[in-house]
Amino acid sequence: MYCPRVSVIKGRGRSYRGDHAVQVLVTGGAGFIGTHLAERLIENGNVVRILDDLSGGALVGISRLLRTGAAEFIRGDVRDIGRVLEATKGCETVYHLAAQSSVPRSTENPALDLEVNAVGTNNVLMAAKECGAKVVFASSSVVYGIPRRTPTPETEPLVPHSFYGASKAAAEDYCRLYSELFGVPTVILRLFNIYGPGTNKGLIFDLYRKLLRDPRRLEILGTGEQKKDYLYIDDAIEAFMIASERSKFRGDAYNIGLGESYTVLQIAEMIFDALGLEGVEVKPRGGTSWPGDVELTEPDVSKAEIELGWKAKVGIRDGIRRTLEAFEKELGSLPYKRPPELTK
Ligand SMILES: NC(=O)c1ccc[n+]([C@@H]2O[C@H](COP(=O)([O-])OP(=O)(O)OC[C@H]3O[C@@H](n4cnc5c(N)ncnc54)[C@H](O)[C@@H]3O)[C@@H](O)[C@H]2O)c1
Repeated sequence: MYCPRVSVIKGRGRSYRGDHAVQVLVTGGAGFIGTHLAERLIENGNVVRILDDLSGGALVGISRLLRTGAAEFIRGDVRDIGRVLEATKGCETVYHLAAQSSVPRSTENPALDLEVNAVGTNNVLMAAKECGAKVVFASSSVVYGIPRRTPTPETEPLVPHSFYGASKAAAEDYCRLYSELFGVPTVILRLFNIYGPGTNKGLIFDLYRKLLRDPRRLEILGTGEQKKDYLYIDDAIEAFMIASERSKFRGDAYNIGLGESYTVLQIAEMIFDALGLEGVEVKPRGGTSWPGDVELTEPDVSKAEIELGWKAKVGIRDGIRRTLEAFEKELGSLPYKRPPELTK
């Protein structure tokens, strides 16, 4: 195998470090987390190449980055080893975020999920081995499945409860094995629920969109008692930065979460408070949210703090406030904050 010559779409703005100075690759860089990560890497003076097939992400989100001249975009699929090799050439670090990232979609199409998440990760690792790059892998809390112990430490056995969790767990094993058997430097970040400006999925986005349609009542999937950890995007990006600098790159996994868990009903109340909304009728639909959902996540985040010196800084209320401010600009404001009948 060899690292081929690169053909890329470059931005037309000023070049930060010359044409051949690409240092990092972000797979899935047109997605929610990848766009924030690419932006931060550019701010830090890197030249960033993005590999994305645009199946979930969008060029519009990264067009601003391409205009800086410090970002390049390759449209390609991580299942295509040729494309992955092309994108990895000349990169010191690969941040591997490209994924089929939805639990419900993994239930609809387990084969696609397996190919993109597991085979795609093997392709990234093969390319990193060939090109001498290190890999920071975006894994997920769902690898634990239904936790037997909370707060859940990284040493807990992985018993995924969804196909998405299984493909991420397999990808983690491939990262560890490429480190152990081939000496490829890898580190695994088990991200909990990440939220913030620019997301188009997840609980906070979902609740805000429903409130935009009708601020008088809010239907909630499941019982509302599902309790999960929510981490603000800036803290997640900081974890990527710190892991790429301080990790030993031996295939170690780190829980990346806030270290506090909240029920859906509590998050809904925090959203009402932040928006100044009154009198909302909350209607839990009952039952389970969707097949494969893990209704309790509560990470032990001490390993990342002790070994990497990373800890979340943005509290849940502050993160929700910042996110809602961004949603108001991105999606529009609520028609009113107090039901008209209460305003009289
Ligand atoms: N957002 C979260 O709460 C969260 C939590 C845990 C783990 N993660 C993981 O972090 C990573 C980024 O998550 P996100 O929320 O930004 O997801 P996202 O869906 O917004 O981004 C994923 C990106 O990967 C791209 N992609 C999908 N299939 C591809 C393929 N075959 N080849 C190339 N590109 C492909 C999509 O177009 C998209 O731009 C994913 O690996 C996800 O599994 C996210």
